[in-house]
Amino acid sequence: MKSDYEIYGTGKPIVFLHAFPLTNKMWRGNINNLTDKGFQVILPNLYFEPESENAFSKTAEDIAELIGSLHIKRAIFAGLSMGGYVCFNLFRLHPTLFSGLILCDTNSAGDSAEKRNSRFEQIEKIKKDGNRFLVNSTLPNLISDHTKLSNKKLLEELKEMVSATDSNENISALRAMAFRRDHDEILGQINIPTMIIFGAEDKITNLEIARKLHTRISDSKLFILQNAGHLSNLEQPAQFNKIISDFAESVIY
Ligand code: MLT
Repeated sequence: MKSDYEIYGTGKPIVFLHAFPLTNKMWRGNINNLTDKGFQVILPNLYFEPESENAFSKTAEDIAELIGSLHIKRAIFAGLSMGGYVCFNLFRLHPTLFSGLILCDTNSAGDSAEKRNSRFEQIEKIKKDGNRFLVNSTLPNLISDHTKLSNKKLLEELKEMVSATDSNENISALRAMAFRRDHDEILGQINIPTMIIFGAEDKITNLEIARKLHTRISDSKLFILQNAGHLSNLEQPAQFNKIISDFAESVIY
C-alpha cells in the first residue's frame, strides 16, 4: 500500500479525499473548525496504480487499510470530485465503514468516450510540458470567475500546489479516471446520511449532476454555494465549514 496522510485532533473521524490535480493540502482551511468541535480529521494523499484499469478499487482498498490501521471502525468520508470517485468505490467495497458521506462537486457516472479521449490528450500534454500544462489549462476551470477576481491569493496558492504535484502521479490519476467504473447504480444503495455540496459556478461538474445525486440518494441534503466553482471548500470556506460541522454533529457514528 502506498500511503501518506496527515491526522489532526481527536474524536469522531472524518476522512477527506482530495481533488485532481491537488493534494491533501487543499483541505488545510477546513481542519481547525472541525478539530475545535471535537472531530478527528484524516487527510490521505491519493495514489493510483499507473497501468491498472481498476486503479480506483485499489486506491479505495488502500484507504480502507489506512482506516483499519488507525483502528477506526466507522467514519464520515468526504470527497471532492476525484475524491468523490474514491468514495463511491469505497462504499461499493466497504459500505459498513461509512457513518456518513459528504460528496462535493463530484459525479457517480463514469467518463464518456469523449471525456476519456480528452484525458489521454491531457496525458500527452503533461508528458510534453509537465505540470505547466495543468497550471495553465486545467486550473483556470477549477475556480469561479468570482474567485479569480476576488481572491488572487487563493489562485496563487493553487498554482503553487499544482506545480508541486508529481507529474507521473498526475498521469496515473488521469488514466485511473479515464477507466473508472460507473457508480450510478449504487446510488440507491447509499443508506447513510449524505451531504451534497456543489459550487453554483462549477464548470467541471454541474447542478444537474448535483440534483441526480440528491434525488437518488435517499437520506441526502443538497447545498449549492453561490460564488463558488469546482473547489467549493476553498472558494467559500466559511459556508463550507459550517455545513460540514453541522452535518458531522448530526451523524450518529
Ligand atoms: C477533480 O477535480 O478531481 C477533477 O476535475 C476530476 C475530473 O477530472 O474528473
